Parts: sequence; C-alpha cells; structure tokens
Amino acid sequence: MKQELIRNFSIVAHIDHGKSTIADRLIEFTGGLDKRNMKEQVLDSMDIERERGITIKAQTVRLFYKADDGNTYQLNLIDTPGHVDFTYEVSRSLAACDGGLLVVDAAQGVEAQTIANAYMAIDQDLELIPVLNKIDLPSADPDRVRKEIEDIVGIDASDAVLASAKDGVGIKEILESVVRRIPVPKGDENAPLKAMIFDSWYDSYQGVVVLIRVIDGTVKAGDKIKFMSTNQQYLLDKVGVFTPKPLTVNDLSVGEVGFFTAAIKDITDVNIGDTVTLASNPAKEAFPGFKTVKPVVFCGLYPVDSADFEDVRDALDKLRLNDSSITYEAESSVALGFGFRCGFLGLLHMEIIQERLEREFDLDLVTTAPTVVFKVMKTNGEMIEVDNPADLPEPSEIDFIEEPIIAATVILPETYVGGIIQLMVAKRGTQKNMRYLTQGRVILEYELPLGEVVMDFYDKLKSISRGYASFDYEFAGYRQANLVKLDILINGEAVDALSIIVHRDHSFYKGRDLVEKLKEVIHRQMFDIAIQAAIGNKILSRSTVKAFRKNVIAKCYGGDISRKRKLLEKQKAGKKRMKQVGNVEIPQEAFLAVLRIG
Ligand code: GTP
Repeated sequence: MKQELIRNFSIVAHIDHGKSTIADRLIEFTGGLDKRNMKEQVLDSMDIERERGITIKAQTVRLFYKADDGNTYQLNLIDTPGHVDFTYEVSRSLAACDGGLLVVDAAQGVEAQTIANAYMAIDQDLELIPVLNKIDLPSADPDRVRKEIEDIVGIDASDAVLASAKDGVGIKEILESVVRRIPVPKGDENAPLKAMIFDSWYDSYQGVVVLIRVIDGTVKAGDKIKFMSTNQQYLLDKVGVFTPKPLTVNDLSVGEVGFFTAAIKDITDVNIGDTVTLASNPAKEAFPGFKTVKPVVFCGLYPVDSADFEDVRDALDKLRLNDSSITYEAESSVALGFGFRCGFLGLLHMEIIQERLEREFDLDLVTTAPTVVFKVMKTNGEMIEVDNPADLPEPSEIDFIEEPIIAATVILPETYVGGIIQLMVAKRGTQKNMRYLTQGRVILEYELPLGEVVMDFYDKLKSISRGYASFDYEFAGYRQANLVKLDILINGEAVDALSIIVHRDHSFYKGRDLVEKLKEVIHRQMFDIAIQAAIGNKILSRSTVKAFRKNVIAKCYGGDISRKRKLLEKQKAGKKRMKQVGNVEIPQEAFLAVLRIG
C-alpha cells in the first residue's frame, strides 16, 4: 500500500464512553464483518473481558475505506486497553499510531481517564479528533462537553464529530475525519527494518503472536529478525493482519501494522515496546522509550489443599504464556504452607488473574491481602525491597522505610466533594489542586500512598460518590513514611500471612478494627480463640471468639435427615476455603479482612 494512503489510529476514551461500540461500527461500515458474523464487541476476545466489559489485551484491525476523495485508504485501528493498570500497554499502542479518536460520552462529559489517555496521546504527538458519542441520549449536552474538552484537555473541539454508535450516526464522518486529519505515517521504505512491538499473546498452535507497527523498511515471512533489547533471533513463519479475522499477507511495509509468528515458545522473549529489526541488516537505533514493566502489587496465593501446589504452579505457568507481566515465586508461610508470591500491574490485574486461576483451572485458593513494594533502608546501609510484610526486618535493623506514592486525579459532581476529601484524608492523601471543571463538576488532584489505594479505596470512592467519581493515577515516586508491621496473633501465635504494614499513626485503630473483623469471620470452635493485634511485643488490641456451647449437629438428632445432610454439606462447602493454623481453622475472609476496615 502506498504510504500516503495509510492511516494508523486508535480510540482513546474513558471506560464505558463507547470505544468498543464505535470500533464495531467502523468495522461494520467498512465491511470487515457482515452483521451476521458480528458478535458484539469483536475487539474484546476473552470471555472474562466481555463479562467485565473492559479491554485487557490490545488488538488491531485493518480496514479499507473508500473515501469521498475517491481513494481507498488502509485504516489500521489499534485497540488500546482502557484501565490504569495497563498504562504502559496503552502508551505503546498509542506510539504505534499517528492519531486518535478522543471519544467522550456527550451526556457524561470528560472523565478522569479521558484526561489521562488524551494526555498520553498528546505526549506521543498524536492528532486527536474529538468525537462526542451517545448524542441519542436525552441528557446529551454536546456544547457543554465540547467546552470541557477545550478547557481541560486543551484541544480544539469546535469541529468534533457528533455520533451515536448505538444508532450508527456519525460513523462515515468519523472515517472521513480520520482520512483527512490523521497524518500520513512517516518512515523510510528503503531503510533497514525497524518495527515496534505493541502487543503479543501466546497461541498454542503458532507460538507467540507479535503485533508490530513498521516504522522503516519491510518485513516478510522467511526473514530472520532480531529483538533489539535481547538480541534474540528468529526466523519468521508468517506475517499477517486482522480484518478482524487473521489474514496472511506477503509483507508488512513502512507505516503498516500487523502481526508475525516465528514459533516463539516463551512470551517473556517478546517485550512490549521493543524494536524488531533484520538480523542481517539491523537498524542503528531502537525505537525510544522502551522499558520493562514491573509489578507494583503483590499478594500470596496458596492452595487450600497443599497437595495442589504443583497444580497452582502449572496454572501460573500457563497464564504467564499470555501475560508476561505476572511474576510469581514459590514461598512458604508458617500459617499457610507452600504457595506463591505473585506480582501484578495493579489491583484489577490481580483480580483478573485470581479469577482466571479459579475459573479456568478450578483451583481453590487462599489469597492474602495485597501489598505494595516498600524500600527499606537498613541500619547497615543496605537497601532492600519488601513486597511481603512477613519479610520486613526487625525494627532495630531498620533505618527508614519508603513507600510508593501516586498522583491521582478524581473527577466528580460537587455534591460528593466533602465525602471524597474525607476519604483522601483517611488514606493519607495530600491535596495538590482542586478546581471546577464546569458548573457542578470538580476535578481534584491528590498525592496518595499506593499502599492505601490497593486496599479498599476504589469501592469506597464509588460508594461515597454513588458511582459518579472517576479516578486515574500515575506513579509519582517513593517517599519516606513512618511505617510499622502490625502482627495478628491467634492464641498467642503470630500468623505471618495476616501481618500488614501500616502507618504508625493508624496502627492502633487498624489493629482494633482488624481484631473485631477477624472475630466476626473466624467461626466458633471447640475452644476459646484469642485474637490479638500487636506491634513487636506491644499488644494493641484483643478479642475472643468464644467456644461452642452446643454441637451444631446435636439439634438435628431425631429430626429430618435431609436437613441434617444439608447442614453437613453446608459445613463442608464452608470448609473449602479454610486454612488450619495451629489448631484453629481460619477462613479465606480472614486473610482479606484488612480490606474491610477503615
Ligand atoms: P470499555 O471497553 O469498558 O472501555 O468500554 P467502552 O468505552 O468500549 O464502551 P462500550 O462500547 O462497551 O459502551 C459502553 C456502554 O455504552 C454500552 O452499554 C453501550 O451499549 C453503550 N453505548 C455505546 N455507544 C452508545 C451510543 O451511541 N448511545 C447510547 N445510548 N449508548 C451507547
């Protein structure tokens, strides 16, 4: 394809503003899929994604569009993940584009991720075309939203496209704007191959499928390529594009977007953001801005039955084939036995992986509370990273501790500002800015410890604002804080998997609340169970789960046998997620009880 007839673009939007629906309409309009074939939201391929309605893995489609100027253009629509946990993937997908549609819900207006994603696109020098979607809604207010885009995002929105993806309105106008306004891809056809990887996944037949944008040169099947960050070389089996069905092509040349396969068995060999070149005639310089992503949230995953340990390892190995950002390493806990310490890009990422382990691999797991990575300066001058509270050195060995801080943006109706500020204060946030977006809508900027956000922050934010607050953040560095390890003792024994790292000023009430919560979730047994919260040797709080007075079964004697069976079954089901710690049975809820306190 002639370079000047290629357009590479993506859709940036806040969650639920209609990105997938618009993508569907564009595919439908250009004939990529007939209506019958068209499952809703073709771009979200994994079931779990469809259920959650979010896009996890970026995909891309090639469309052909005959424009009003008589030319047929090759449009490459690059789908980007919409969630904060996948920021780096978003930025790499955007780097593969020359422009983007900034889709904003014409009723809701600009939200936190509209701003974050738009800024990311602007940072990559992308031409943004504002699209006001959902104009069919009675509450749509395009004038107000246009003004919000201009004031907050800072781009001209006077010629924004008015669209309703639901009714198929504005789709042709979007395509015409793409052709007219998105720049022609730059690059030199005759230079050595240089292509950027912006996504990859494992396919059991073909090995890793690698999505690339060709910056210079051409690539075809049979070429021997090299990954510039690792110097690994592979012979290409196949190059192709998605239409959205996969289609083999002869080559991918300058400005084009597509995939290749090369019988790559290990997804960790393929790094998002890395540059691909020809082994025989390599490019001089790699594409800038490449980094390896590091997990920021960790938790322990333990099989309920220790005999399943190898099954958990197998499942994690399999999941990692498709997601190189998960890390895991075997660990043992005095309380929970053998399991894995797993690292994730964020909370949502963690939840998705836990859910997939349980759903796809049918594993019963006990998970411990999420924690961030602390930097601990020891008195001997050594700096260590701690992602498990149980690994924190003795207080006498610690000089100081640093915790990760994020810069957060919240957009919300003014009615909820008071409640959200209170929440921010409780979460040790520092206000950086507060201003009106438009009448009645406020934008708050805060610095917050990430460790506070991985707890129950999202749920609280949503419940306080009745779902109206939107939230986005970026990592803002490490900062010293007065942190201590809070231990939980059950019948006098510290249970390592229940330890948490908290701010000293919060330790008393957190200890008290945690003890109360544990008392609720640990059921009565044949003896009294003492629960204590402590820092070092100092007990902060104590409570007791009293022993049974009666045998639960006893009251069924002489009664209905089916009722008795039901009760036994219920008890058995309840046991599924129990861990025996000493002689006390501790349920899964106990290990996450910390998420339910202030
Ligand atoms: P994520 O994948 O979660 O980022 O969402 P998205 O931005 O892709 O939004 P999606 O396309 O899933 O649309 C969100 C909701 O808005 C769905 O229920 C759509 O049916 C609905 N929707 C999309 N476009 C329109 C529109 O033009 N009008 C109306 N009324 N509803 C729409």
